Amino acid sequence: MWLPCRCTTKYVAASIRRGVSASFLHVLRRGRSSWNSAAFMPESAGFEGVSGRDALHDYSVSHSENFWAAVARQRLNWIRPFDAVQDCDLSQGRIKWFEGGKLNVSVNCLDRHVHTCPERVALIWERDERGSEVRYTYRELLEMTCRLGNLLRRHGVKKGDCVTIYMPTCPLAVASMLACARIGAAHNVVFAGFSSEALAERIRDAQSSTVITVNQGVRGGKITELKRTVDAAVQSCPTVRQVFVAMRTEKRVEMADRDIALEEEMLKEDVVCEPAAMDSEDVLFLLYTSGSTGKPKGLVHTQAGYLLYAALTHRYVFGYHDGDVFGCVADIGWITGHSYTVYGPLANGGTTVLFESTPVYPDPGRYWDMVERLRINQFYGAPTAIRLLIRYGDQWVKKYDRSSLTTLGSVGEPINTEAWEWYNRVVGEGRCPVVDTWWQTETGGICIAPKPSEPDAEIVPGMAMRPFFGIKPVLMDTEGKLLTSNNTSGALCMAQPWPGMARTIHNNHQRFLETYFHPYPGYFFTGDGAYRSQEGYYQITGRLDDVINVSGHRIGTAEIEDVVVSFTLFLYPYHICDAVCSDEAHLSDFILIISVTQFAKRLPKTRSGKIMRRVLRKVVDCDLEGLGDLSTLDDPAAVQEIIEGHEKVL
Ligand code: WT7
Repeated sequence: MWLPCRCTTKYVAASIRRGVSASFLHVLRRGRSSWNSAAFMPESAGFEGVSGRDALHDYSVSHSENFWAAVARQRLNWIRPFDAVQDCDLSQGRIKWFEGGKLNVSVNCLDRHVHTCPERVALIWERDERGSEVRYTYRELLEMTCRLGNLLRRHGVKKGDCVTIYMPTCPLAVASMLACARIGAAHNVVFAGFSSEALAERIRDAQSSTVITVNQGVRGGKITELKRTVDAAVQSCPTVRQVFVAMRTEKRVEMADRDIALEEEMLKEDVVCEPAAMDSEDVLFLLYTSGSTGKPKGLVHTQAGYLLYAALTHRYVFGYHDGDVFGCVADIGWITGHSYTVYGPLANGGTTVLFESTPVYPDPGRYWDMVERLRINQFYGAPTAIRLLIRYGDQWVKKYDRSSLTTLGSVGEPINTEAWEWYNRVVGEGRCPVVDTWWQTETGGICIAPKPSEPDAEIVPGMAMRPFFGIKPVLMDTEGKLLTSNNTSGALCMAQPWPGMARTIHNNHQRFLETYFHPYPGYFFTGDGAYRSQEGYYQITGRLDDVINVSGHRIGTAEIEDVVVSFTLFLYPYHICDAVCSDEAHLSDFILIISVTQFAKRLPKTRSGKIMRRVLRKVVDCDLEGLGDLSTLDDPAAVQEIIEGHEKVL
């Protein structure tokens, strides 16, 4: 059991802030308990000479093939066993895991649990309308998935096709993802807040002939016309042959020739659907994410490695046990929703919550009311939402019984100390470890997090801390040299491949190589900077490129500028984040979600016309001393204007 040790974490936090070397803080650690790695992680029982968390991590990195082979054999059900554990070469950007193996992801997420516990609840759909949650057992979810799989097959969807899913977080969306996996089609879930242009761009890039959507979405008490958005999008998508339309509300919508009523047609299908035998390295899904140029990248994840990594991290980072209720509030349109609302929990036979609403609807107590009502054990959310809720006061939290909670997760951006402390003290009553999980769409699952650790190990607020099993982070200096010492900062790279990594960018392998493998040959480059403390703990310092994180979603500044330019305004958005939660705005139209916007007549540009974003960032951070070298600016007066404008906004 994890024992709360608030004075330790507080003390460490204060010390870190003061920049005190944390090494002497070891004295604050409690005596090591006799921690048994095989009891903790049954998959590790055969690893010779391994005891203790650190030894297990060392083994997972130094004997990576043994480690992943054992875990893959025990955690996944295989139709045919794999011949080779891995065939990877980071210097070439080649990543292949478990070749020769055949499996079906939907069977791993559904059928095997239906055999052992058909009536266990798989999904709890926390609908936007508070208190109207709906539960689906594993048997029901398998039935739904099979009907959908048969329907897609009957309409010509084949192995290797890519189906675009444009739906809110709901059981039919999950069943659609799993139905694709069942018949061997790839899915491409597009966040249902994206505009018709953004959707069209993703449909075209993925070359989808099939789209699945709903008539209308409901979020924060407001209706969104999702079918209408799809109608507009497919105008410019000649590949689209058919659009399946589910009914989230009663409202009838106009149906064209290509449109098919989803539920009606599903009823005609059989509840048994033969699963396709997929190769480990067949595509499971594409997921588009922002890069530092305007064009989104369709990252490709494959079957076995992705599922294994999502399942293992879900189990061990959150301490998920059979019978627990896992509450990840991320939308399924993001990788967090894929890995920790859908694939990780279902592969582990877990009960997962599908959160359709917002943290402030109908009031700022929504999350904690849900925790009480659904008896959620692990809660996983974004720092942005936490910061937003802090402003409404502790009473919205304290009103509700949170005794079911055991672990609190954070993801998407650095969690500042104030938010960390509040999450820990107010939400978790000091009982629950806060796990700040660092990862990306590209990594498939969590790579750095305070857990798993030995029960008495410290957690430093605001630090992601420890690499997960099989993960070997390194830091690089600006010349591309490996930084070997501690208490240092650099570019965060990974020195070893792991099964959850993305395999390529759809239709653009060259961009994949250039973005992730060319900057530091032989390493995977994350795009983030990090600090490694005296003790070897990691703290993520943020993006090194022109990508910003908004409410746990990644947006390239180039994309924002595209939108902004289309509105013929010049502005620099910040604090966009919190508005996503409070305004229920659409991410697609970034302009709508800018809550605190500073308008500027002009932006600081270099003589060659590049916007000096670091200057804007410093102004936003109120760090005027850190503005740095401004000598290449075309017109330094622009900076002064921005500083004055910023003071007004504050
Ligand atoms: C980027 C990835 C991972 C799912 C959500 C976002 C930032 C993510 C943390 C964290 C500091 C974080 C990084 C990363 N990020 N988690 N715990 N601490 N920064 O996925 O859209 O692919 O964005 O989010 O900058 O590169 P994504």
